[in-house]
Amino acid sequence: METPVVRFVKEYNNSRKTRFHMPGHKGHVFFGCEPYDITEIPGADVLHHGNGILAESQKNASALFGSGATHYSTEGSSHCIKAMLAILKMERGKEDGQDKPFLLAARNVHRSMVDACALLDLGIRFVMPERQESLCSAVISREQLEEAVAGCEKKPLGVYVTSPDYLGQMSDLASLSAVCKKHGLPLLVDNAHGAYLHFLKTPLHPLDLGAAMCCDSAHKTLPALTGAAYLHIHREYAGRFEPYAAQALAIFGSTSPSYLLLQSLDLCNRYLSGEYPDRLEGLVVKVEAVKEELVSQGICVKPSEPLKIVLDTAQNGYRGEEIAEEMRSFAIECEYADWQNVVLMAAPENTETDWERLSQWSAETKLVKEKKEAFPHKPFPAVKAEQVMGIREAAFSRHEVLPVYDAVGRVCAAETVSCPPAVPIAVCGELITREMAELFLQYGIEEVSVCIF
Ligand SMILES: Cc1ncc(COP(=O)(O)O)c(C=O)c1O
Repeated sequence: METPVVRFVKEYNNSRKTRFHMPGHKGHVFFGCEPYDITEIPGADVLHHGNGILAESQKNASALFGSGATHYSTEGSSHCIKAMLAILKMERGKEDGQDKPFLLAARNVHRSMVDACALLDLGIRFVMPERQESLCSAVISREQLEEAVAGCEKKPLGVYVTSPDYLGQMSDLASLSAVCKKHGLPLLVDNAHGAYLHFLKTPLHPLDLGAAMCCDSAHKTLPALTGAAYLHIHREYAGRFEPYAAQALAIFGSTSPSYLLLQSLDLCNRYLSGEYPDRLEGLVVKVEAVKEELVSQGICVKPSEPLKIVLDTAQNGYRGEEIAEEMRSFAIECEYADWQNVVLMAAPENTETDWERLSQWSAETKLVKEKKEAFPHKPFPAVKAEQVMGIREAAFSRHEVLPVYDAVGRVCAAETVSCPPAVPIAVCGELITREMAELFLQYGIEEVSVCIF
């Protein structure tokens, strides 16, 4: 597959032109990548309003993902999420006379979704799962969504879910999208962790399962530089949403997109169109075998999406952070650890040495050698949040920072998150409860920001 952006920058660099343009390094090496770090000079196209090499590269990506339109972002899924919500808001306009449109969303949203609601003055009505075992996961069923839609006196802007989530849990997007279609609601998916899903033998990408729009962090699972992301619009929704995409991305994006990241996305197209599906298939088999091996050794592994290995360390009597520390002594750094879990993310780029280290760790780990009683099963206290103030109003209010227990009974002013996973325990405008305060401490948050009236 052609890589027009990579080709252009290479030729420009080889031409040894005098750079009387930004960036200030002028292509001289300070860090190493400067010769390839250019800006939107003639011929390099313009990211959100392009018709040259960037448009061509994005079309290539769109063909690979089977989308109606694909847009690049150099500012992560965080940027694409804000743009998706802006597109919805612009497209709906004032059609139904609602002053403050709202979305139905599963509770485990990333903070960028709440930030988007604050910036766009949208409301969220959370659909709570029947059972929630962690802050990160809140998988909702078709029936729960049906019930939530039926309970809305006004039509929501759309439905928003995060799948896969940080713990690799996946929603039944095909069922959720069927409910959405029945009610004429677009399904938006935060697929930050699932760019690779389209390239599985049986594709499981949100676009394959009926989502209207989704964001993918290319950098999380594909060999792309940190910050590289896609905003995809489904073919059936392109006529409706694509006219607003450029403006929505531009509103929240920098006017200086990184060409290093754009080249990385461009190059990714060649990688995806080549042997990637085969390599991915091989990796899926490998990860499955590793999970089975861990289980046979007595290590608790949670079912998850194909490329994550999620260790339920609490079942083996250990906090995830302690096991993450143990892994460091085997030269392994995990993606995420909390009081319950350790999450490892794999890619075809992991080497045999990486897998050997994991195997050495599993043979030595105290999860098996110094077995303990499982932590008493504490169901995740469903956060019964009461929204007493608009998200925007609270996010932009005067505020003060208080120790968590002093904040009980006050209104949350900033999404209180532990990062990662950056999933808010309390959303701006919600009343902070004792249950929330306990959760803050469980996730290492000691102070929260509350509104001053
Ligand atoms: C579920 C989820 N959504 C969105 C994001 C934001 O992605 P990015 O870091 O690409 O901005 C993250 C980041 O970790 C995430 O875990």
